[in-house]
Amino acid sequence: MKVVHNIQELRDQLQGQTRVAFVPTMGNLHQAHLSLMKLARQHGDPVVASIFVNRLQFGPNEDFDRYPRTLQDDVAKMEQGRDVYVLFAPSEKEMYPEPQNFRVSPPDHLGRILEGHFRPDFFEGVCTVVLKLFSCVQPRVAVFGKKDYQQLMVVRQMVRQFQLPVEILAHETVREDDGLAMSSRNRYLSDSERAEAPQLYQALQEMARQLQQGDSREQIEARATRTLAERGWQVDYMALRRQSDLLEPTEEQILAGEPLVALAAAKLGATRLIDNLEMTKA
Ligand code: PAF
Repeated sequence: MKVVHNIQELRDQLQGQTRVAFVPTMGNLHQAHLSLMKLARQHGDPVVASIFVNRLQFGPNEDFDRYPRTLQDDVAKMEQGRDVYVLFAPSEKEMYPEPQNFRVSPPDHLGRILEGHFRPDFFEGVCTVVLKLFSCVQPRVAVFGKKDYQQLMVVRQMVRQFQLPVEILAHETVREDDGLAMSSRNRYLSDSERAEAPQLYQALQEMARQLQQGDSREQIEARATRTLAERGWQVDYMALRRQSDLLEPTEEQILAGEPLVALAAAKLGATRLIDNLEMTKA
């Protein structure tokens, strides 16, 4: 695997390649990232991965400074996985040599709800860096994880509206044995928080059970929020939404079998976790 730190070197390495499959990451790689790279390998050649902790997508009180930067370990993991041909690991100066005044903002109906409500700069930061990374790598396909469900939808819509020549592939959420969705932020959890963390996924599974029982959206969301709050979580949202646009389904739509997704965001101590589960009323 070649590790390159600047855009010109990257372009030189990829000269003439038309089937590039791309996996953008912020590093601190775990099994879920390696699975994205494996999927990329099945859909293109060569596979390019990036590691860049993107300041633009972090709010002022978020974890940009303490976000784990583990380049040497990450390189070793990718070498072992043998799926990645080029790792692009630019510095901040390389990606943002001047203030990034041109930005890509998603529409409010998608970018200001759920994650976008609690993290107002997040999707603008993600779209801006993803567009920039696409411009550097020029991939034919790019792989994103479904754990960041709303991010995946935002990126898909950006690609569609700008008619970017890249196909977005989604990888299922990869979980630990106890159900916790893999995330670089799991490493912030203390032992006792780690033991509690799978409750987020259990709450989503309970939402699915209550949906089948015929409970209303409001009841399902309120119970999930209360259950987690009683266990000491600080809940941002437990929301049952339409898969198509992440808006609230009507009861008629639920009964008619509209594809739904339950989305969760909650803090355990200082660590904010997100997760989701797709479901449909049978
Ligand atoms: O999902 C992530 O790791 C980041 O949001 C991404 C897509 C690499 C953009 O910085």
